[in-house]
Amino acid sequence: MKPLFVVLVSTAWTLIGAQNYYQGLMDYLENRLLAIEDRMQLWDVQFHRYHTEMLDFKKLTAQAVEGLRNDHKMMFKDLEGASAQVDRVEREMDYVETQTSPRACANKADKVVEQEAWGLQEREEEEEEDWEELHSKVSDCVEIISGIRSVKILKRVGSPKGLWTRDPRSSRVYIFNGTSGDTIYQFNSVRDFSRSMGATSSKNIKLPSEWNGLGSAVYNGYLYYIKKDTDTDAQVVKYDLLSGSVSETAMFPVESHTSLYNLNPETVADLAADNQGLWLLYAPSDSEPNISLAKMDPATLDIEQIWDTRCPRENAEAAFVVCGTVYVVYNTRLASRSRVQCVFDVNDMVINEEAPLLYFPRRYGAHASLKYNPEEKQLYGWDDGYQIIYRLTMKRKLLA
Ligand SMILES: *[C@@H]1O[C@H](CO)[C@@H](O)[C@H](O)[C@H]1NC(C)=O
Ligand SMILES: *[C@@H]1O[C@H](CO)[C@@H](O)[C@H](O)[C@H]1NC(C)=O
Repeated sequence: MKPLFVVLVSTAWTLIGAQNYYQGLMDYLENRLLAIEDRMQLWDVQFHRYHTEMLDFKKLTAQAVEGLRNDHKMMFKDLEGASAQVDRVEREMDYVETQTSPRACANKADKVVEQEAWGLQEREEEEEEDWEELHSKVSDCVEIISGIRSVKILKRVGSPKGLWTRDPRSSRVYIFNGTSGDTIYQFNSVRDFSRSMGATSSKNIKLPSEWNGLGSAVYNGYLYYIKKDTDTDAQVVKYDLLSGSVSETAMFPVESHTSLYNLNPETVADLAADNQGLWLLYAPSDSEPNISLAKMDPATLDIEQIWDTRCPRENAEAAFVVCGTVYVVYNTRLASRSRVQCVFDVNDMVINEEAPLLYFPRRYGAHASLKYNPEEKQLYGWDDGYQIIYRLTMKRKLLA
């Protein structure tokens, strides 16, 4: 009897244990499910919140974009106003520039160093003192053009071809209308010219002989121009603008009237004056495809030195001299963008590879002439009847 009781009791215990166990399991599972449900509910709430936040954000960005668009419009209007003001300031600066004294091209320290360098070299070669002086003058300047900073169209007067330039010393402006003539127009300043009604308010200067082509230069109160005597002879004439008389003339070495620039055939030779001296660009003969350069004494018109620039005349429209470096500007017969594509430095300090390929801003047509003003570091261009000023940026020559 006793063992049976034990078996019964132990079975009952086992049953109760099993029941407890399953109850526990059920409780556990229920709790897990509740927890999952809770979390899902939470996710749902969060999702809704995110969704509404997204919508709000979208609305906000739309508003911001709209606001920006309005700001942009207003900024544009402001910019327009500012550019008009800049224009005015630039004009004022032109005026101030005309009132202040001109700057020299190189500073004194540069000059001393360069003269010493040349001095040593020349002494080694046992040259005369005079030549030493001359060569040091040629190498005075150590700047090269690095870019075209801006362009300004001042006016449109006269015929499609012509020349305008400004004497850096007197700040007077001279207009050569057409490709030849015996009269030029003088204005007291760039401002006077840009405010004038054509050539009526200018002083007309009648020259004793005709100027030919677009190669004239004005420097320090003197006008230098090319005069064709006969079909084969050409002269450089130095004319004193103050006294109104010819102070010097000289022939220059050409065999015939070959045009210097293929795209501006009226120009037989081109003069450039600066504080380095007087430069003459010319074509010695028809068979010579390249531009020649002569350095002249601005006082006596003596030729001091001659170089072959190795820059072709073909497709050239103009050229100018900056610090002893010739920059030749090329274009195509159907006027496209003018560019400086050949440079020649009398001191061999600038090589073609070093000089940047300079493109002129796209403008109306082709340049009839480009005249460099050394004190202002800007070019006076005549482009299909428009008078244009290009401001240049400069850098030091690499080898200097
Ligand atoms: C410039 O020359 C053209 C003809 O070549 C002439 O029609 C025009 O009147 C001249 N302008 C001035 C300002 O002399
Ligand atoms: C002209 O210059 C080119 C280089 O641009 C050169 O190859 C050619 O020999 C030169 N011609 C003469 C006749 O000097």
